Amino acid sequence: MAVHSFERISSLFLFFILSSIFSFGASTRTITNYTFSIGEATVKDIKQSIERNQLTSRQLVEFYLGEISRLNGLLKGVIEVNPDALLQADAADKERKCKLPGSLPDLHGIPILLKDTIATKDKLNTTAGSFALLGSVVPRDAGVVNKLRQAGAIILGKASLSEWADFRSINAPAGFSPRSGQGKNPYVLSATPCGSSSGPAISVAANLVTVSLGTETDGSILCPASFNSVVGLKPTVGLTSRAGVIPVTPRQDTIGPICRTVSDAVYVLDAIAGFDSNDEATRPASYYIPPGGYKRFLNPYGLQGKRLGVVRDPFFKTIGLGLVQTFESHFETLRRLGAIVVDNLQIYNIDVILNVTASGEAAATIAEFKLSLNAYLEDLEVSPVRSLADIITFNLKFPDLVGPGNLLGSRSHKWDWCTGEGSIIKLGNLSKNGLEKLMRDNELDAVVTPRSDASAVYAIGGFPAIIVPAGYDSQGLPFGILFGGLKGSESKLIEIAYAFEQATMIRKPPSFKP
Ligand SMILES: *[C@@H]1O[C@H](CO)[C@@H](O)[C@H](O)[C@H]1NC(C)=O
Ligand SMILES: *[C@@H]1O[C@H](CO)[C@@H](O)[C@H](O)[C@H]1NC(C)=O
Ligand SMILES: *[C@@H]1O[C@H](CO)[C@@H](O)[C@H](O)[C@H]1NC(C)=O
Ligand SMILES: *[C@@H]1O[C@H](CO)[C@@H](O)[C@H](O)[C@H]1NC(C)=O
Repeated sequence: MAVHSFERISSLFLFFILSSIFSFGASTRTITNYTFSIGEATVKDIKQSIERNQLTSRQLVEFYLGEISRLNGLLKGVIEVNPDALLQADAADKERKCKLPGSLPDLHGIPILLKDTIATKDKLNTTAGSFALLGSVVPRDAGVVNKLRQAGAIILGKASLSEWADFRSINAPAGFSPRSGQGKNPYVLSATPCGSSSGPAISVAANLVTVSLGTETDGSILCPASFNSVVGLKPTVGLTSRAGVIPVTPRQDTIGPICRTVSDAVYVLDAIAGFDSNDEATRPASYYIPPGGYKRFLNPYGLQGKRLGVVRDPFFKTIGLGLVQTFESHFETLRRLGAIVVDNLQIYNIDVILNVTASGEAAATIAEFKLSLNAYLEDLEVSPVRSLADIITFNLKFPDLVGPGNLLGSRSHKWDWCTGEGSIIKLGNLSKNGLEKLMRDNELDAVVTPRSDASAVYAIGGFPAIIVPAGYDSQGLPFGILFGGLKGSESKLIEIAYAFEQATMIRKPPSFKP
């Protein structure tokens, strides 16, 4: 019954019926009947409506606050709402009055939700979903938050996640954190939202915000994007600053957009990419950024002449016949749009790459997690915990605050055993002889695989990838199509993903099935 009413309400998204007369280039057009739905609106739609004085940032924030209070009790995509969000909206509306139209950055006055690992120096807490960090005070905004504020974005709040970005334990439930509870997949409520950036994906999917930021070490942007029918962009490691983000490992961590459309993701990427003196990896990576940014690669003909490698083994063995058929038709679409599809390629050692134990990814990451997390905790101005050991003690001391699943402490005995070094060399070798060799030998622009199953291929080498909605299975559960490539190939990936998205337009709003 509850579900029934959700379906009804969600189809009734607040509609703003707006009438206005406005100037358009040299001519003047009269719109007597302009219908604008904030729910599914893109950044570009919203910008246009704001520029035409049909919408204010305050109205936008009020809409999302309403949707969060209506839906978040069920979905648990949001941990905290920013008490200053309306003030920031008013400031944006005021600033806009004194500026020439078109002179403001693309995200000006646009609300964004941040995964709860991304530090903000404001009234919001930054806790990775754990009560152990509640009350901690960060020294400064994260590098990406600094850039978002410069771009005029409104920090709407913090999004839920798998606690500690999935480093709570080996079998902790995806999308669960003690502070948020269990995040729900808005398409099929009983299904996983996947993690660890579950809250950002849930929230943009259910129209609780315009855009969001997640983080990925291995699959944490791509997998929830796939399961929630949204676009996830995992940038080359270092293209976006990790400073001020609760870490797993700087070798693989990257911060990227989770949005409803490729163009929204690109607007966010343009705002956050670039040098930050607090993350040295951003210095070399900033040379990848094309002059003028990534917006000009939103090209509907972007697939023409692109060489795309299809890797079926083992990815097609595990997805079921229905999905195989859907992907065959997508490959047809890619060809029709001018791509050269190079089929049945193999990634050398793929079975090792996909097995975190065999590849050394688990050993390396676990060793690096302790060092990186301790460094983050030591840098806090105020904190109830200063080390991984303190967090383990906290979890043992307050089990009722920690919820179901194994405690972070269950892995504790291992942290000191692994040096990780041998594993890191091995991972480099797996990338060189794996993805890099495949791309070079076949002169590929990108590799195509179903869902986010190939995330380890891109994780271990710091490579970029983008996932776009590709369909819904017989239960109504979404899945995506993944395009990945070599470091710095974001421009190509964006062209490919945008052309595919524009030709297929698969995303539809969630239906809240039980
Ligand atoms: C107003 O908009 C609705 C919905 O788009 C449309 O069906 C209708 O024809 C429009 N009316 C006028 C007068 O343009
Ligand atoms: C941050 O946590 C404190 C508890 O330590 C709480 O009182 C406060 O409301 C939280 N901030 C927000 C914005 O929810
Ligand atoms: C993964 O690798 C480990 C160690 O090499 C091995 O014991 C295990 O069976 C592998 N798992 C799978 C699913 O192949
Ligand atoms: C890298 O991989 C190749 C091919 O598997 C192997 O022959 C070589 O010994 C490896 N090198 C290192 C340093 O592990």
